[in-house]
Amino acid sequence: MIPELAKASVLMRDRSRVEETIQAMQRAGPDALQVISDFDMTLSRFAHNGKRCPTTHNILDNDLLINDTCKKMIRELLNTYYPIEIDATRTVEEKLPHMVEWWTSVHELLIQQKIRRDLLAQAVKQSSAMLREGYKVFFDRLQEQQVPLLIFSAGLGDILEEVIRQNHVFHPNVHVISNYMDFDQSGVLRAFKGQLIHTFNKREGALLHAAHFRELKERPNVLLLGDSLGDLTMADGLAHTQHALTIGFLNDQVEERKESYVNSYDIVLVKDETMDVPNAILNYITTAPAK
Ligand code: TMP
Ligand code: MG
Repeated sequence: MIPELAKASVLMRDRSRVEETIQAMQRAGPDALQVISDFDMTLSRFAHNGKRCPTTHNILDNDLLINDTCKKMIRELLNTYYPIEIDATRTVEEKLPHMVEWWTSVHELLIQQKIRRDLLAQAVKQSSAMLREGYKVFFDRLQEQQVPLLIFSAGLGDILEEVIRQNHVFHPNVHVISNYMDFDQSGVLRAFKGQLIHTFNKREGALLHAAHFRELKERPNVLLLGDSLGDLTMADGLAHTQHALTIGFLNDQVEERKESYVNSYDIVLVKDETMDVPNAILNYITTAPAK
């Protein structure tokens, strides 16, 4: 049905359920579909030529915005907390307080640095952030078919928007829920807006933004993309889902996490830096079946 699903990097717990869901979604057509995706390490690349790519937070690791002491502290926090985030031996409940600590500490440091809004675009340009190969086909196809794309990110909304703008894919069908910076009148960072979103509280975020999902209730089919098990709760704001298909990128700690990913996501993509599989599925769903 979809040759890309036969790639060695694709794992599925129940192939026939995946195929049935894709077929049901195709029958319902693009008007019934919405896409919900995580950003960091899902739409953006985990690595390129063997080098890690930055997350939206790590794009700020730039002399333009923060001093050396702050850089060092943010890197130390990453080295402390990222291993906890991806630790297969701890439960989400055990991870939660650590994630809150991580995000809160980094945001406090950023505020102390008096980051200027007018330098963010330049920092993004100078960074090595990259979207996954095939991203343009993905974003353009959704826009063409008028399928709404909700990007639900625990990263930084201002930076995320700049990344997709600079890649020319910030189309009108794209909506973003994320952590946004609050600048004072002179354009200096003074706080973060709204409720903090970290990797493991997306469910609360989804319920908080239920009004957004209400507008989408006529679209009962959901394609969900993520790279963390926490991303699976991004669709919890939806009340009437008919068919849902979840695709998880397994970028790191593959052997340790493979089993839990296969048990949780319908399709698992192991160390795949491309959008080939999501694009092939999207293409299939949004192409009318042969009569
Ligand atoms: P996401 O929800 O868009 O994937 O964004 C969250 C990711 O950002 C998560 O995997 C952890 C990562 N992160 C950093 O890389 N550096 C940081 O300083 C923080 C707070 C999070
Ligand atoms: Mg992510």
